[in-house]
Amino acid sequence: MTTTETEAPLDLAGIGIGPANLSLAALSFPIPGLRAAWYERRPEFHWHPGLLIEGTTLQVPFLADLVTLADPTNPWSFLNYLRHQQRLYPFYFAERFHSHRAEYDAYCRWVTRQLPGLHFSHQVDAIRWNADDAVFDLDFTRLGPHGEAEAVGRAHARHLAIGIGTAPHIPEALRPLAETTTIPVLHSADYLDHRDRLLAAEHITVVGSGQSGAEIFLDLLRRRPEGRERLHWLSRTPAFAPMEYSRLGLEHFTPDYSRYFHGLPESTRDDLVRRQWQLHKAVDHETLSAIHDELYRRSLHGGWPDAVLTPGVSVRTAGRLGTTQIELHLDHAEQGERSRLTTGALVLATGYRDRPLDPLLPALDQALRRDAAGRPRIHPDYRLDLDQSITGSVFVLNAERHTHGVGAPDLGLVAHRSAVVLNTLTGERCYSLPERAAFTSFGLRPAAGPSRTPEFAARGRGHSPIR
Ligand SMILES: Cc1cc2nc3c(=O)[nH]c(=O)nc-3n(C[C@H](O)[C@H](O)[C@H](O)COP(=O)(O)OP(=O)(O)OC[C@H]3O[C@@H](n4cnc5c(N)ncnc54)[C@H](O)[C@@H]3O)c2cc1C
Ligand SMILES: NC(=O)c1ccc[n+]([C@@H]2O[C@H](COP(=O)([O-])OP(=O)(O)OC[C@H]3O[C@@H](n4cnc5c(N)ncnc54)[C@H](OP(=O)(O)O)[C@@H]3O)[C@@H](O)[C@H]2O)c1
Repeated sequence: MTTTETEAPLDLAGIGIGPANLSLAALSFPIPGLRAAWYERRPEFHWHPGLLIEGTTLQVPFLADLVTLADPTNPWSFLNYLRHQQRLYPFYFAERFHSHRAEYDAYCRWVTRQLPGLHFSHQVDAIRWNADDAVFDLDFTRLGPHGEAEAVGRAHARHLAIGIGTAPHIPEALRPLAETTTIPVLHSADYLDHRDRLLAAEHITVVGSGQSGAEIFLDLLRRRPEGRERLHWLSRTPAFAPMEYSRLGLEHFTPDYSRYFHGLPESTRDDLVRRQWQLHKAVDHETLSAIHDELYRRSLHGGWPDAVLTPGVSVRTAGRLGTTQIELHLDHAEQGERSRLTTGALVLATGYRDRPLDPLLPALDQALRRDAAGRPRIHPDYRLDLDQSITGSVFVLNAERHTHGVGAPDLGLVAHRSAVVLNTLTGERCYSLPERAAFTSFGLRPAAGPSRTPEFAARGRGHSPIR
């Protein structure tokens, strides 16, 4: 296996190329003299491909692209993408504020083809602080077309941006089932790859009533013959509940709310995220309406569709019955009842979890300050709180729900977060950001933003990479 080593240290190395780091790359490109590179283990950008179900849309307006909410003049805006595709007029007449998910994916792929410094098929394995040279050493493996290791290498960077996203979550008790080869058991993230296998089953169960579960249930329902749907949709969530989408409610996804949230005590923050589940873990109104419409249409000539929709049900455990069936063990908390369900195929739309930072940063373990629950402390400007001996900054993008609130994964905050990171990194006001973004005043006294934190200005200037 060959080994490569980059020469001069980079100012910034990004790990992971999802929307979070792609936005940072797009907004960093116009900054003169900034030397940056980005590493992604997949061979190319593809945004949640297993869930690009025909016709599904983003849950945020198209203005929540990679750059516009920080800098509408950046060349990698969604509108500029449409201009390059000669599709501005069709888009204008379509009057759609919420783009198709497939279109957002195509737009991001277009950006990845334009931007320099993006390295796909590069998996970052470990990061260490090299105190002698005041840089981070990044060890990576270059992967071949089938994910096999082809070469190893090392890069050096003064600062890091970790944007490694989330990974599909399967409840512990159901994991052995997912290894079954004769029965389709899959996470919702892999839905489209297995849709035909699922539809061939006599009975299908979908578990989970977030947006993924709802979209998959609707898609399966539309594809089953009338009267012979043979579908179950079960979820632990107490109701098939609508996502909060009122205009003032959406102000929870503003920098103002993130700042307010950051200033709260840890236990209050944790309690809030749990209580705010309808802001981030529910189903949009259109999908709920479309499910009802489809069920209603199927009842027009009398009778009920053969579909069972039950919220408040937890799938406790499950086991195989022979080679073609699964038995699910169900708990209904409100009734205090237990039951069993036999099914021929199972979709686990049971959500995602943050990819842990620790496997990448074991050598920084001693230097990383943690909260009472052992999670990394994160500054308002998205820097990990590290021991003073480490003079480089490690920014995290979309790993900060516990410190910045429900907006952490939201595409509507991606460009603003990138701009905050770049202002901090350079110690300059590269991007002029609004002092205020919401009509709501969160709290009785205003929370200090990153641009108003004295520590930010001093630290940013001290480490300016481009002077
Ligand atoms: C199906 C789905 C739909 C969503 N739709 C919306 C929506 O409409 N609106 C909205 O606001 N939010 C939405 N979200 C939430 C969020 O915006 C997305 O999950 C978004 O993709 C997050 O971007 P990210 O860059 O943080 O992470 P990801 O998109 O997960 O990208 C992280 C990348 O890091 C790579 N990586 C991980 N480890 C390494 C490593 N060691 N070395 C190199 N590369 C690595 C991964 O391969 C991955 O490509 C959706 C989420 C899901 C799951
Ligand atoms: N159109 C789009 O743009 C789109 C599409 C898909 C996803 N998304 C976004 O992606 C994120 C993830 O959504 P998601 O739907 O994949 O996940 P999610 O919102 O986390 O929902 C997971 C669901 O699984 C349930 N669950 C977990 N374990 C269970 C068990 N053992 N038994 C029964 N039910 C169980 C959860 O119940 P509890 O509530 O009790 O935990 C919840 O209903 C969300 O922010 C969502 O908005 C967006």
